[in-house]
Amino acid sequence: MPLVNTIHNEDCLETMAQWPDNAVDVIVTSPPWNVNFDYGDYSDDNKSDFDKWLTKVCIEMERVAKNAVYVFMNQDHMWTVQKGLLHFKQWLFYHKRNMGAAHHHNIYWSKTITPIAMSVLVKTLKMDKYKNVSPIDLITGVNPQSDYIKNKRVHPAQDPVEAYLPLVARTPGQVFYDPFMGSGTLALTAIKLGKQYVGSEINPEFVDIANKRIKGAKSQVDIFTEQLTIG
Ligand SMILES: C[S@@+](CC[C@H](N)C(=O)[O-])C[C@H]1O[C@@H](n2cnc3c(N)ncnc32)[C@H](O)[C@@H]1O
Repeated sequence: MPLVNTIHNEDCLETMAQWPDNAVDVIVTSPPWNVNFDYGDYSDDNKSDFDKWLTKVCIEMERVAKNAVYVFMNQDHMWTVQKGLLHFKQWLFYHKRNMGAAHHHNIYWSKTITPIAMSVLVKTLKMDKYKNVSPIDLITGVNPQSDYIKNKRVHPAQDPVEAYLPLVARTPGQVFYDPFMGSGTLALTAIKLGKQYVGSEINPEFVDIANKRIKGAKSQVDIFTEQLTIG
């Protein structure tokens, strides 16, 4: 079973291969998008076998997650995600305000029992393409990428905690896994909400960065708890 509150410095396929079905409650992740980001140990450089690999990852995510799988993916590869997450129940759209040419719309793909949300700006999408979508409520205001000013990032593709918070907060479960943990955003979100995290990250430098951020987040929670106790 997964060792909670740990980031495994390895290929996520290796991590998941060691787990039984339904080993974690929820997956929230932003995989590489094959768009030339510099991740050091992992080359994200328009690989020809990218979709084949992503399908494999999705099939494993589907297998190990009990309640939900959320994938932040660019439009170019969303059909691959669909192939992998065979039992998905709902699309969840998040419209980027400052769309980059390569990134189009971000799509959160969900395999939840409860239908999830669409962004308030979803009107601008071509809805006839997405006939089965039934928006229940809205996740607004946070752009997973461009809300970060470049020089504040500690990772080239760092997402804001605020983008993950609504997903983690609304999905039942205690153990949240990110197979592509990067700078530890999902871990920070889990800590903030009193949940447990597990991660995989192939680049040891990013694991160090994530663990430093986690230490900081935990000490903030400790100070807060201490203040509550004293108060
Ligand atoms: C889009 S970034 C994730 C960013 C993360 N959400 C954050 O907020 O920092 C993808 C990450 O996946 C890592 N990665 C690439 N291939 C991997 C693999 N096979 N297993 C585990 N991590 C991998 C990269 O090093 C990179 O840090």
